Amino acid sequence: MSNVWPASAARDSTGALSIGGVDVRDAAAQFGTPLFILDEQDVRARAREYRIAATQVGARQVYYAAKAFLATGIARWVHEEGLGIDVASGGELAVALRAGVPGSDLLLHGNNKSIHEIEEAIGAGVSRIVLDSFEEIVRVADVASRLGIVQPVLVRVTIGVEAHTHEFIATAHEDQKFGFSVSAGAAQEALRRIAMLPSIEFRGLHSHIGSQIFDALGFEEAAVRIVGFMSHMSKELGIEFAELDLGGGMGIAYLESDDPLAIGQLAAQIADAVARDCAAVGMPVPALAFEPGRAIIGPPGVTLYEVGTVKAVQTVDGLRTYVSVDGGMSDNIRPALYDAEYTVALASRTSEVEPMLVRVVGKHCESGDILIREAYLPADLAPGDLLVVAATGAYCRSMASNYNYLPRPAVIGVNAGHASVILRRETLNDVLALDPGA
Ligand code: LLP
Repeated sequence: MSNVWPASAARDSTGALSIGGVDVRDAAAQFGTPLFILDEQDVRARAREYRIAATQVGARQVYYAAKAFLATGIARWVHEEGLGIDVASGGELAVALRAGVPGSDLLLHGNNKSIHEIEEAIGAGVSRIVLDSFEEIVRVADVASRLGIVQPVLVRVTIGVEAHTHEFIATAHEDQKFGFSVSAGAAQEALRRIAMLPSIEFRGLHSHIGSQIFDALGFEEAAVRIVGFMSHMSKELGIEFAELDLGGGMGIAYLESDDPLAIGQLAAQIADAVARDCAAVGMPVPALAFEPGRAIIGPPGVTLYEVGTVKAVQTVDGLRTYVSVDGGMSDNIRPALYDAEYTVALASRTSEVEPMLVRVVGKHCESGDILIREAYLPADLAPGDLLVVAATGAYCRSMASNYNYLPRPAVIGVNAGHASVILRRETLNDVLALDPGA
């Protein structure tokens, strides 16, 4: 049984939940609902754990994957704990720079970086740009040359390994938009072209095999294939592969039954596999890098909602109770998009009443606006109660929308009994300001 709640989550004597020493009822009263709450110490501890695991296996850098959720406060927390940041757009780059993270601790991703984004990144001195297409090789080389810089780059390769949770599949062809295919020869051609361009400096390969992965098998299969390719290329073209960035994807527990591998163990297994494969082909071991997003910001985050209605509906199987909260698919699109499952609990009090089976839904005009398909909550649940959904720190606020003109929720950080605003709640005026109103 995994713990799905932030490290500091606790019930006080009244039964109300507190996180980071902040009573969720006080947080709701002060900041409103829906509300994202992040346990700062938990985020920092996870970032540190990655830093330590990486150091233990001799990795060169851990870049926090900003796409999971970024704000200047988050960039500062993870950077203070020794992580760099992986940014995948000019917007994410701007937030990281605004937080004071130096370019030397940033890495730029993206499968269609604009010239402007490339200029901003090179101008900021980003440590690595991960190249993803033939067009981009030329664009990055041109911008670097214009700016009089030799830009270190990695080349993103696809090696026909895809992993999700406990499963990985290895296929011969790679039908996806990212990277250069190894089997089709595109990766080899990319290396040839890069070698001829003096304004970019090839440092190594990048591979990201998927997300929400629970074990090392997919990474190990990826390592075998990548090392095979590196060995072939170093013999054929005399290329040196100083670095290997294995991306992110480390899974987390959304449900108590989820059982992800501890990061230290995962990193050790991956590093062992790379070292073993390199030894087998007589190659020097490249310096590893990782890009975890979800594993750092997911578990320390929760969403707090207020219950608005509790409705019993007659279905063919009997009665179903629909519990409507004041957010929904605009602050958590993951159940609708990926059938993602979450854990929910009554947060503002405890109840001695027997649990009932419910479906927790949002307030959007769409029947697919379901947050939790099946959950047990106390049968005396009533409007005004606060519900808390676990492990929403990653890919919820960052993928939030204004569907039905709902302003996007605030994000607060909690630590030692103190709450601070990470992102303020959007107001209707913020949203209306986009409309010229002619
Ligand atoms: N590096 C690269 C190149 C990536 O594409 C990603 C995620 C990461 C790192 C971070 O992966 P993580 O450690 O967070 O799994 N919206 C989806 C997840 C999409 C992930 C895309 N790439 C979700 O909500 O599950």
